[in-house]
Amino acid sequence: MSNYHIKHLEEYWQVYRKSVRNPENFWEEIAEEHFLWRKKWDNVLSWDFTKPEIKWFEGAQLNITENCLDRHLATRADKTAILFEPNDPSEETQHITYKELHKRVSTMANVLKSQGVEKGDRVCIYLPMIPELAIAVLACARIGAIHSVVFAGFSATALATRINDCDCKLIICSDGSYRGNKTIDLKKIVDEALEDCPGLTTSLVIKRTGGEVIMKDGRDKWLAPLLDTADSVCKATVMDAEDPLFILYTSGSTGKPKGMVHTTAGYMVYAAYSFKNVFQYRENDIYWCTADIGWITGHSYIVYGPLCNGATTVMFEGVPSYPDFSRFWQIVEKHKVTQFYTAPTAIRALAKQHIDFVNKHDLSSLKVLGTVGEPINEEAWHWYNDNVGKQNSPIVDTWWQTETGGIMISPIPYSTPTIPTFATLPLPGIQPALMDENAQEIKGNQVEGRLCIKFPWPSIARTIYGNHDRYRDTYFSAYKNMYFTGDGARRDAVGYYRITGRVDDVIIVSGHNLGTAPIEDAINEHPAVAESAIVGFPHDVKGNALYGYITLKETGEDRNQDNLCKEINQLITDRIGPIAKLDKIQFTNGLPKTRSGKIMRRILRKIASNDTANLGDTSTLLNPETVQEIMDNKLV
Ligand code: PRX
Repeated sequence: MSNYHIKHLEEYWQVYRKSVRNPENFWEEIAEEHFLWRKKWDNVLSWDFTKPEIKWFEGAQLNITENCLDRHLATRADKTAILFEPNDPSEETQHITYKELHKRVSTMANVLKSQGVEKGDRVCIYLPMIPELAIAVLACARIGAIHSVVFAGFSATALATRINDCDCKLIICSDGSYRGNKTIDLKKIVDEALEDCPGLTTSLVIKRTGGEVIMKDGRDKWLAPLLDTADSVCKATVMDAEDPLFILYTSGSTGKPKGMVHTTAGYMVYAAYSFKNVFQYRENDIYWCTADIGWITGHSYIVYGPLCNGATTVMFEGVPSYPDFSRFWQIVEKHKVTQFYTAPTAIRALAKQHIDFVNKHDLSSLKVLGTVGEPINEEAWHWYNDNVGKQNSPIVDTWWQTETGGIMISPIPYSTPTIPTFATLPLPGIQPALMDENAQEIKGNQVEGRLCIKFPWPSIARTIYGNHDRYRDTYFSAYKNMYFTGDGARRDAVGYYRITGRVDDVIIVSGHNLGTAPIEDAINEHPAVAESAIVGFPHDVKGNALYGYITLKETGEDRNQDNLCKEINQLITDRIGPIAKLDKIQFTNGLPKTRSGKIMRRILRKIASNDTANLGDTSTLLNPETVQEIMDNKLV
């Protein structure tokens, strides 16, 4: 039996039991046998959820890029590491071998060093899905710089907030990006952001679109000439196990985005282990995750997890709808993709198109289908299973979070029998718990509660950059000695988990986490707005869409509501990005509030979702008359 590679259900249970009985011993064996260490650890785990402080493999030394690259050179030098599929199908696919990737990462690492980047410095990466994005990530890791990738759909304001929050001194960006038939001037967005980032002194620019850009003297440099003259050998910087590897921002229900800090050894071990098992990767497989590297899914399951396993990982620059809705399936056929990992929102959008888009392609190479990011509804699950998997490829519904670093609850394909909409069972090492309103653990099956994890796993985020108190308050204070996920879940009769969704003010729109507070802050900047409240409502493609209740200031003048809606959505686009735009805006005379002045979102949520049969207790409201008025004027 191998702890590292589970091949059937009985084995899963044996491995799982072992991982719970003696977690230290379990993870030590895996770390020992499957990774390259400069020095082994003195202590496998020390932890205290009250501080909270979690350390894995303390005393160990390593560099994650030696695990992703160097150690494969003896056996896989000419194997494709990254298979790049450009936005435009007439542009050539690139096959970047392990040998070439090693060289390109080393060269870029030397450029970073030449620009004064040192171990521990933060580097922002704001790039489209081109190979240089993965190379930049690995180049940072090579020299111990902490990468902070910002999804290139975020606005200038959102980018500036993230650069300043972790004091990035350098940014790697591009002139522009291609998305379907659109070209986006990324450099312009960066220029605007950098006006508010005095601490950032260098910007390295990659040419992708050839669009016109303004290069600021002393700050902006084209990357290509620097790469041309840099040495292609770069010794990896030796890192301690708990040295930070990267920061990645995620939305909270309140306040500014949280810079989740992931450290080196534990993250590496868990990303690699979970990748191997959840996707059952075998040597000649072609694995494709459609996420963007700007999200945790891309970090763990496009870059680090696959490369640690010597896999071939596809990077796709474009969108599922360009040149038409068969693009995903065309790529699957072209490269004989074996594992395909995407989001429910993409599945729902594709399911709406003519079935010929799928059927005209040979998808027989597929062995495993994955989904992530939000609960998958039953209809989408069946569509995926029937039409893409031809009822022949197990679906892994993987539940996890930016904070968890890796997949936590998921079937092991070909081992765990799947049920639509269930993430099923915890991976080895993961100990879920459901909690009730009295903060007591709910034991037994066929129960529902708030999902917590009661024991540390190697890839749990260690802190929020610059704000450890917020880390403790957000994740470790609701339930004693537990990590609280913010999600609700149900455990069925056989112990399978079904995630029911967020229980806080985070709304997941098209798989993107959006906190209501930052959106409301953006809306409230509009001079005509007195106050606002955002809630989610069900949407057949996006999963959830945003419904805004907005009260205007009383000025006596008549305002054109269509124009106001446009201006408000423009403000949101500028402050956060187009993903946070409101689908519906209802102007109200007031918002229902408790006597202590808190907006009763529960009621607003029900109204937006057409679920008004039982609004619950409204007697405690300060202004109950607003409820009827809002219902009367609800948008359809
Ligand atoms: O609510 C859960 C939902 O996405 C949240 C985490 O979002 P983020 O940090 O952006 O990471 C997304 C990619 C890992 C979770 O708290 N979520 C994620 N996967 C699932 C899910 N909800 C239900 N089922 C899933 N498979």
